[in-house]
Parts: sequence; C-alpha cells; structure tokens
Amino acid sequence: MCGIVCYIGKQEATPILMEGLKRLEYRGYDSAGIAVSDGDETFLVKEVGKVRNLEEKVQALSPHGTMGIAHTRWATHGRPTVENAHPQTGETEKIFLVHNGIIENYRFLKDDLEEKGHTFKSQTDTEVLVHLIEEYYDGDLEKAVKEALGLVQGTFGIALFHRDNPDKIVLARRGSPLILGIGENEFLAASDVNALIRYTNKVVHLNDNELAVLNHTNYHITDFQDRKVTREMETIEWDQGAAEKKGFEHFMLKEIFEQPECVKNALRGRIVEGEGVPRLGGLEGVLDRLKSIEKVHFVSCGTSYYAGLLARYIFEKLTDLSVEVEYASEFRYRNLRIDERTAILAISQSGETADTLAAVREARRKGALCLGLVNVVGSTISKETDAGVYNHAGPEIGVASTKVFLSQCVVLTLMALLIGRYQRLSLTDGLLVTRALKELPDHINKVLKQADYIQDIARQYAKYNDFLFIGRLYNFPIAMEGALKLKEISYVHAEGYAAGEMKHGPISLIEPNFPTVAILPRDSTYSKMISNIQQIKARDGHVIAVAVEGDDHIQSHVDHVISVPHTIDIIQPLINTIPLQLFAYYIAKERGCSIDKPRNLAKSVTVE
Ligand code: M6R
Repeated sequence: MCGIVCYIGKQEATPILMEGLKRLEYRGYDSAGIAVSDGDETFLVKEVGKVRNLEEKVQALSPHGTMGIAHTRWATHGRPTVENAHPQTGETEKIFLVHNGIIENYRFLKDDLEEKGHTFKSQTDTEVLVHLIEEYYDGDLEKAVKEALGLVQGTFGIALFHRDNPDKIVLARRGSPLILGIGENEFLAASDVNALIRYTNKVVHLNDNELAVLNHTNYHITDFQDRKVTREMETIEWDQGAAEKKGFEHFMLKEIFEQPECVKNALRGRIVEGEGVPRLGGLEGVLDRLKSIEKVHFVSCGTSYYAGLLARYIFEKLTDLSVEVEYASEFRYRNLRIDERTAILAISQSGETADTLAAVREARRKGALCLGLVNVVGSTISKETDAGVYNHAGPEIGVASTKVFLSQCVVLTLMALLIGRYQRLSLTDGLLVTRALKELPDHINKVLKQADYIQDIARQYAKYNDFLFIGRLYNFPIAMEGALKLKEISYVHAEGYAAGEMKHGPISLIEPNFPTVAILPRDSTYSKMISNIQQIKARDGHVIAVAVEGDDHIQSHVDHVISVPHTIDIIQPLINTIPLQLFAYYIAKERGCSIDKPRNLAKSVTVE
C-alpha cells in the first residue's frame, strides 16, 4: 500500500519520479506528491487524486534538481487531502519524508511532541515521524533517523532528505518493502521494482531494521545498530514492457490475455517428461521434511485465498495430506495445533501482504515448516519462508488479480502432484494431470477468442446491481473468485456460493433483477447443478451458464451459455475462471468504472 520512489544522480529527478509514480499508482491513488532539490532550493508539490492530477501541477511549477523523493498514497490516517499527502515535513520544513506503513504509537508520540512545542499540519502518523526525527536532528540525519525509529512501534518504509544536506537520501525499513536500484552513477529506490525496471535491472533489497544512504556517487547500508551490511546485487528478470499496456485498454485486460503465456511460464522446466511428476527446484531442499508432513495450512487473503480453497480440493484428490485453508488474518489469532509435522503454505502475489506475513511468522514461532508461493521475487514472504516456489507470472499491475490467480492454481496443482507422486498417486494419474496442464494454454486461448461474445452478454447484464455466482466442488472457489472480481472492479454486489447451499438461504434473493452465473462442468455435480438452475428459473431468475463444449442439454435451461473446452475435473476450474474474469471486466467497462485502480483498493496490502 502506498508507493515510494526516489532518485539521486545526474539526471533531472522530476521526470523519473513522475514515471515511477505512474508505475506505482496501483499501490495507492488517493493523493500523490514529490519533493525535489537542486542543491539550493527544494520544490514540494502535492495533489489530491490520481498521479495525473499531480502531473498537471508539476508541469506548471517545473521543479528541478537531480535528487528527490515521491509518493502515491492509500490513506490510513486522515482523509486524502493535500495536507495529508506525502512528502510530509516537520516544524522547520527542512526534512522531507515519504512513508509506507503505519506508526501504531503515533498518538503517544504526537502528544509528547506537542508538549515540546511542535505543531502539526496534517492528521497523518507520518508527520509525527518527521517531527520526531527533527527533534533528534543535530546535523547527522542517519543518527536522528535511527534514534527516532527506536521509539516507533509499527511498520515503515521511509525515504527522506534534509534541505541543508541535499546530497543524500536516507531510507529505512521495517515491515514495508524498499528496494534500491543501482544504475550507472545514479541510484534509485522504490517500494516496488516496477518503478525501477525502466532505469536499471540491478537491485539490492533492504531488509527489516536496515537503513540505506544514497548519494550522487555511492550507497551504503547499515543495520539500526550501525553495523555495516554487505549485500549482493540481484538482477531482476522482469522486462520493462511487461509493465506496460501494450495496446490493451487496461492492464487487467492485458493480464487476462497473458494467461496462456503465464501457464507456460509456470510450467516451464517443471515437468519431468513421461514421469507424471514435476520438478520444483524451490522445494528440493525441504523434500525430505515434506515427506513427513501430515497437515498443511494454506494461508492467504483475497484472490490468493480462493486459489488456496481450490487447491484444497486438488490436494485432497492427489495427496494423502490433510489440508486446511484459512484467511491469513484469522489464522494468526486461532489456537491451532501446529507442530513439526505441520506445514503452512503462504500464497501471495505480492509477497508483502501484512496479514499473510504475520501468519508466516506465527507459524514459524510454533515450529511449522513455512513454504511460500509468491510472484514477486525477493519479496518479504519469499525471504521469510523456509522454501517456496515462484509463479514467474511477471508483474501484475491491475489491482484485480487475474493472471497470478491462474498461475497460483497451476503451481498449486504441481505441488499437489509432487507430493501425491511420492505418496499413492499412480504414474497413469500423474500423466493425466501433466497432460491436462500442458493443454491448458490452448484451452484458455479458445475462451479468450470468445471475448466479444462475453462482452455482449456483459452489456445485457451491466444494469443489474446484484449477482449470485454458484458452483460445486472444484468450481465453488471459482464462483467465489468470480463474484470477488465483479464486486471489486464494478462495485456491483455479488455473492459466490456453494450451489448446494442455495436452498439454505440465498434462494430467497432470487427474482428477475438478481441474475445468477452458474458454473457447471460435466462432472459428478452436473445433475445437481441443473436442479439448482431449475430452482432459479422457477423463480424467474436469469441464468448465465459456464458449461463445457458439446453440452447441448444446458441451452434449454438457461438464458445464456458460455462454452469452454473440456478437461479433467481438477483442471476444469482453471478454464472456467477465464470467462468470469472477462465478464467482470466488461461489466466494469460498461459501467464506466476505474478498472485497473478500483476505488478504495490497493494492489499490495501492507497494513493489517
Ligand atoms: O498479494 P496477495 O496475493 O497476498 O494479495 C491478496 C489480496 O489482497 C488480493 O488477492 C486481492 O484480493 C486482489 N485485489 C484480488 O483481485
């Protein structure tokens, strides 16, 4: 949540900072600001709303200089106003600071500072931090930062500079990501590699309780106890083009269409031909321990949680493990029986979700093997888990997760297959799964070719304000994910339900203005799904069905059919999710919503 970008070097900082902010806007977009210094003068520009609003102001004021810091905000303390936007300044307006995270004891610190004569202009916890640093400042900014941070409870990723010493930017982190970008005689820093990849692919990750100083020619890192930190530079593989729209109207649509490639990337080099078993390099170091595991908890949030829910069915089918799926925000407060025969698998696109990270830390404390399935390389969860697997899905910019959800489902299937093949799963069954996975990109392409048809259906349904999504077994999590996609980007009320539960409550909602999207593959649940649909039709509800090709029977029961290629039961839900993504996208488009940056949401949720 919130995005930070910093630059110090030989070039004009403003265009680099503005470009970085645009690439980070998906992390927060209710206000934005930059502070740039030319050595003599410091320019502070802030504006409410999207980065384009700030851009207009920046163009008018032309801030110039070769160093600066910038921020795009997702409000936690105080409404989105210019006063609350970052950079925040202190009493003397000499320190400029941007902050991601939450200072939990800000109220206590503020009272103390007020007693010492500080006055505050904003409602933010961040401004309290600047004042606190100012209180300790005696000419040595790093020392003041360390002293102030010693009093802070909560999470932070901060970047700041002092007007009197504009040759350096100080960064510090605890719980909110910060990555240094190392260029040729120039240095950048950001909360997300997306803001860096245009300028450099050489990065250094800052860890918790570390402080970095960037100046025009060099950088160094220490911990909060002043010990020097030496860390290898890493090379990021994401290409710059991946973070651009490439002719698509929205990132979300581009990412939906990238899914065949995403599946290939998730499978690349991971299937041992003819063996019906995957090779997952990231798990090799813990394979022996994995073999003694009896129970796995999947912990995650939002869409990643639904990937976990689907994976539970897949693990039950392919392995002997007992699987529990839990919202990360609930997991850490439960009194679970966790021991060395328990593993937890944290599923997270960003690898930074605060609740998921907290769950990992809680499970580690109790002795569980901690695994991760993460898309962002080098993210905190990837570092704090014992072992794990990357999605290799490339950057996902649309706030609504699409391609990474699919990729998560693919990798989770591979994990189940790996464990299952060490247990009782036969070679024949293993081969069925690997063959179905390899066919998946072609199947998805067939669904994507129906985008216009799905858009046409979406046009007819865009006027409705309530939707029900139903499915059974493997497709129940897909129904929930379909409903989440619709509600988050089109602000339409949608509920995802296990179809069998309809008669226990939700059926009372059914009437002509409450359409249903029903997912009914040709599996053991088919006839039960038909009964559910008949019950809806009997109450004058409209039904859109996602059914498999060649199902001629369904036409007569529903209003619209979206046909998808048929595959084995456990892989079918991966195909079925694609039309639901497109349906949500086109409804949101029809309703004129801000698709890539839905209101109130942010891509990376780094607050609990
Ligand atoms: O980065 P993560 O996968 O940990 O994020 C979890 C959720 O915040 C995320 O899936 C969210 O629900 C998305 N907006 C869904 O589209």
